[in-house]
Amino acid sequence: MKTLLTGGAGYIGSHTAVAMLEAGHEVAVVDNYANSSAEAIARVEKITGKKVALYEADVADKERMMEILKAEMPDCIIHFAGLKAVGESVAMPVEYYRNNIDTTLTLLECMRELGLTSIVFSSSATVYGEDNVPPFTETAPKGMCTNPYGWTKWMQEQMLTDAAKASEKGEDWKTPLSVVLLRYFNPVGAHESGLIGEDPQGIPNNLMPYISQVAVGRRDHLTVFGDDYDTPDGTCRRDYIHVMDLAEGHVKAAEYAAEHKGTEVFNLGTGEPYSVLEMVKAFGRACGHDVAYEIGARRAGDVQDSWADASKAKAVLGWEASRGIDEICRDAWNWQSHNPQGYTK
Ligand code: NAD
Ligand code: UD1
Repeated sequence: MKTLLTGGAGYIGSHTAVAMLEAGHEVAVVDNYANSSAEAIARVEKITGKKVALYEADVADKERMMEILKAEMPDCIIHFAGLKAVGESVAMPVEYYRNNIDTTLTLLECMRELGLTSIVFSSSATVYGEDNVPPFTETAPKGMCTNPYGWTKWMQEQMLTDAAKASEKGEDWKTPLSVVLLRYFNPVGAHESGLIGEDPQGIPNNLMPYISQVAVGRRDHLTVFGDDYDTPDGTCRRDYIHVMDLAEGHVKAAEYAAEHKGTEVFNLGTGEPYSVLEMVKAFGRACGHDVAYEIGARRAGDVQDSWADASKAKAVLGWEASRGIDEICRDAWNWQSHNPQGYTK
């Protein structure tokens, strides 16, 4: 199968490129390097010994995307491209709506004009909002998001679903669309080679990259955002999923999308919650020394608990996560300790 990965030079896209190539699929990548570098794709080629067709372009640029998609005519598009920093989205909502919504609209217009049929979209567990009780099932109502980033995911899910519905009726669509919405829980870890991993710009917002940078000595200590939640150790619980498990989920989802029509939603998570302090301890085991932390105030917008009911992906896609938190921390540490400054050599 021919696949095209928008945002494929990023964290999840680059790991998915490896999994796709290893499953025998062809991979093209379109990225504007807003939050990544072409070095990630050079390393994907090194890991797999296979070539990636790499295009530098803004996915919102319709003229350019028409050229690229005509040249590639992929069986499936996997749409990762987007801005993803929650705090930044609160400060820069216009840029977030413009970028995230426009990329999706441009892809839908190009797909309609070219008769391309299948798209897999990177959504987030954030669409479950604050009122659902975990484990979250795909049939739970979408909730209210706490920030513009979350709303862009919410809206893109709706736009893709509506387009799939309209395409079934024909109208100006050449063929019915196949849309797969993947709701990621907390993607963490790195490829076991240590050649690719998460490379956040500036101070990390997310837990695992922060812990990694403390462990490697780039930062002094972690601040744990609150220890007064109603959980066994007082800290929030999340469903941390190894990025290679997530990547393998995309292979199954793309294969599924190529053979079906309409819209399907899947959670990609492990179904197992871990607390912040459990993750800090697991990382200490992986790196061989304690990770310094202090307890701080709660972070605005945090939910206490979030984890997946992952049974639908297992039943329908035949996929389930197989790597646990010790592998997650081992691989995150391998990447961080071999690339202390990320991709900058
Ligand atoms: P990332 O920032 O590493 O990757 C996103 C990629 O998209 C980057 O390479 C960036 O340069 C590119 N990009 C952004 N706007 C673009 C545009 N207009 N044109 C071309 N390229 C563009 O992020 P990631 O963690 O790999 O996330 C991938 C997707 O998954 C994103 O849509 C993100 O919102 C979603 N997601 C991520 C997480 C997570 O925890 N990492 C959780 C849920 C959902
Ligand atoms: C965050 C986003 C979510 C996004 C996801 C993946 C918020 C409110 N939610 O989820 O929309 O989809 O990232 O990008 O930002 N923690 C600390 N100290 C830190 C960092 C985090 O204690 O320095 C805690 C948090 O309070 C949370 C857990 O670690 O309990 C995980 O945090 P994080 O990695 O930011 O992910 P989420 O908050 O689940």
